[in-house]
Amino acid sequence: MTIHVAIVYYSATGTLQAMAERLEKAALDAGATVRRRHVRETAPREAIESRQEWADHVAALADEPVADPEDIVWADVVLFGSPTRFGNVTSQFQAFIDQLGPRWSEGALADKVYAGFTSSQTAHGGQESTLLSIYRMVAHFGGLVVAPGYTDPVKFVDGNPYGVSHATGADNDQALDDAALDALDHLARRTIDIANRLKGPAAEAPRPLG
Ligand SMILES: Cc1cc2nc3c(=O)[nH]c(=O)nc-3n(C[C@H](O)[C@H](O)[C@H](O)COP(=O)(O)O)c2cc1C
Repeated sequence: MTIHVAIVYYSATGTLQAMAERLEKAALDAGATVRRRHVRETAPREAIESRQEWADHVAALADEPVADPEDIVWADVVLFGSPTRFGNVTSQFQAFIDQLGPRWSEGALADKVYAGFTSSQTAHGGQESTLLSIYRMVAHFGGLVVAPGYTDPVKFVDGNPYGVSHATGADNDQALDDAALDALDHLARRTIDIANRLKGPAAEAPRPLG
């Protein structure tokens, strides 16, 4: 039995893209089947073209598959990622979430493992509030938030028990460091491990009555 992992994220300039790719590698290494999907760009063309790195990233993603609500339904583990925008998720990420209503009403988003990842320019620029925004929506799904907590020594290095986060720095160009990479690997392994436990033989055994 292989665990299905959907990594669904938005990235304007590549940071979340790099985080998602690392999660994908870690999940594959852990034996999972993975769908890594970026959400559709919704910003006006003139806004995108006002920043060269944004336009370049949009062009680089042209051939990559776009997230679909069915990717969430398919998954046992959903890893949601959005850069921080004024302490919240991006409108592009929110637009994807807002397509989930029909599947939510069927209960098809419930009983899955969810966790989040984000980046911001500064370390105190809203990473935790962005992750909590994600988890607030997961509560409405009936999803199971599997926060990393401090369940591994690497979490005392990156220091974020809510999920995984990275600070891109004043020039928005700081590459992922070892702390972030290790925390991403841990997040993938942990969520897959919990999903395996939920799907394992003990979980399927009938519960005693009374
Ligand atoms: C409109 C806007 C709002 C932002 N708000 C914040 C913020 O509240 N705190 C912060 O530290 N960085 C903020 N940033 C910086 C982004 O979080 C940063 O560029 C992003 O994490 C990079 O991720 P990406 O390369 O995947 O797009 C903001 C950027 C934009 C364009």
